[in-house]
Amino acid sequence: MRIWITEVAPRDGLQNVKERIPTDRKVAFVDMLSETGVDEIEVTAFVHPKWVPQMADAQDVLRRIKRNPKVIYSAIVPNEKGLERALETDLDKIAVLTAATDTFNLKNINTDIEGSFQRLIPVVRKAKTEGLKVRGYVSVAFWCPYEGKVPPQRVKDMVLRLFDVGVDEVSLGDTIGRASPSDVKDLLEIILKDIPPDKIVLHFHATYGMAIANVICAWKEFGIYRFDTSAGGLGGCPYAPGASGNAATEDVAFALRESGADVRVDIKRVIESAESLGLPLESAISRVPRENL
Ligand code: HMG
Ligand code: MG
Repeated sequence: MRIWITEVAPRDGLQNVKERIPTDRKVAFVDMLSETGVDEIEVTAFVHPKWVPQMADAQDVLRRIKRNPKVIYSAIVPNEKGLERALETDLDKIAVLTAATDTFNLKNINTDIEGSFQRLIPVVRKAKTEGLKVRGYVSVAFWCPYEGKVPPQRVKDMVLRLFDVGVDEVSLGDTIGRASPSDVKDLLEIILKDIPPDKIVLHFHATYGMAIANVICAWKEFGIYRFDTSAGGLGGCPYAPGASGNAATEDVAFALRESGADVRVDIKRVIESAESLGLPLESAISRVPRENL
């Protein structure tokens, strides 16, 4: 199965940047990413502008990007108010939020696990009637910055509940980048007993340097082929203290390609897209001379 990349830099990458990035620059960034061969782009988030000021221009960004018909364009929608705003734009897909601990949910979206489901259920239903695809995120699926190691069975129960609610796929987030291949195995072994691998997306952050090892483990040993990655390795959640960027698209693409996977992403174009932001890049591959790639 070929590798399927959801590029999350315009959302996960930029949500954590303190300086205001002008809307024009975000639009140009998404337009460049649209030509890199990634399958999906998570363009923005319809969250509260006071909680995440960098995403305040969500509607403008979505209205101004040039769409590549081969790319799926998505955005985070945390509640019904967010869905109202999202439906005034042209989207293919939305992503709803929950997390595997009450504390992280309270910090991130101001409600606990149960409250997050009560909030996302009507959003999923309405989005489906509008013909949108829906992703469910389970953040802190391995480790929580507040509650420590998360029991895999709890995550699995939440994943099953999300599918009952009607989501099309679940992205499991290692929000603080603390998971090791051993944690990945523990979780995937129990989840994949009841859920096919094409319904699961993995979303690794790179904080402890284990993201690439986790990707390779999930692909080689479990047949997972869908990953969330971020050009330049930008990223981090403002409500997960100490978390650094996502696994970089160019690092993941290089590692998978060199391991024999069918990767369609143009690594050089990904790096050029990330460089267009003028921010320091976090990836390994962006530091390698281009002629060696
Ligand atoms: P809340 O304060 O509980 O919302 O925030 P509320 O329903 O009580 O409403 C309060 C006011 O906010 C109301 O206005 C609403 O209309 C307004 P008032 O009546 O007082 O004038 N409001 C909104 N305005 C604009 N857009 C909205 C919206 N919702 C309410 N969508 C909320 C709840 C979820 C909105 C808030 O907690 C929030 O925005 N959180 C942001 C969380 C976030 O973006 N975190 C980062 C992304 S998640 C992540 O990074 C993890 C991930 O990458 C995976 C991984 O790594 O694990 C995905
Ligand atoms: Mg993230």
